[in-house]
Amino acid sequence: MTQYRWESLGLFSVPLIKLKLDRSEEVRELFFSRVQNLSQAQTNTASNTDNLTHYHNDSNVFSTYPELSWLKRWIEESAGFVYHDLLNYKRSGAMKLVSAWFNLAQAGASQTKHAHANSLLSGTLYLNTDKETSITFYHPLTTGSLHNELFDQAVQKHNEHGLQYHFTQVEISVKQGECLFWPSRLAHGYSNNRTNNRLSFSFNLMPERLNSVYQILN
Ligand SMILES: [Fe+2]
Repeated sequence: MTQYRWESLGLFSVPLIKLKLDRSEEVRELFFSRVQNLSQAQTNTASNTDNLTHYHNDSNVFSTYPELSWLKRWIEESAGFVYHDLLNYKRSGAMKLVSAWFNLAQAGASQTKHAHANSLLSGTLYLNTDKETSITFYHPLTTGSLHNELFDQAVQKHNEHGLQYHFTQVEISVKQGECLFWPSRLAHGYSNNRTNNRLSFSFNLMPERLNSVYQILN
C-alpha cells in the first residue's frame, strides 16, 4: 500500500461558546413557581407543539418578570465578552437582547433543525436537564443552498486518520447552569428528547451599533 506524505490543515472552525451561570437555580424556580402557571392560566404567551411549549416568545419576558433584570444584565455582558473578546467583532456596539423566551419540553419532544433570523448572536441557558439532555448543531456547509450543487454523504464516524471534516452534525450534552452562545445563522435542534421537564431559556442578541449599517433605537 502506498505510503503518502501528507498533512491536513484545518482552515476554519465554527464557534460554540459555553459559559457557566451560578444562579441558574433561581431562574429555574421562578419558572416552575410563576411562569408556567401564569402563562397557562392567565396569559396568551404560550405556544404549543408536540410536547414542547414556548413561553413569552411573543412578549418581553424581562418586562413581565423584573426580578430577572440581573439575568438580562448577565446575558448582555456575557454576550459582549463572547462577541467582542472571543469572536473578535471589536468594532460594533454593546450587545443587546432583542428577544428571549422559555422552552419547556417533555419526553418525546423534538425541535426540528432551524436557525435564528434577524440577530447575530444567539444562545440558550439550560435550567432543567438530566444526563440524557443534548442539542445538535449542523455544519454550515451542509445547511441548505440557494443553488444546485452536488452532494455526497460521508460515513459519520471518526476516521482512521483522526479527521472529522466529514461530520455534518455534532450532538453535545448540556447541563443545568450551562449557557451556550453561537452565531445565529448556525442551525441546531434536537430530536426525541428523553428529559422530562427539559427547561431552557433561549435568546437572540444584536450589537446596538453595527458598523455604519444601523443603530438600535433606545
Ligand atoms: Fe433555536
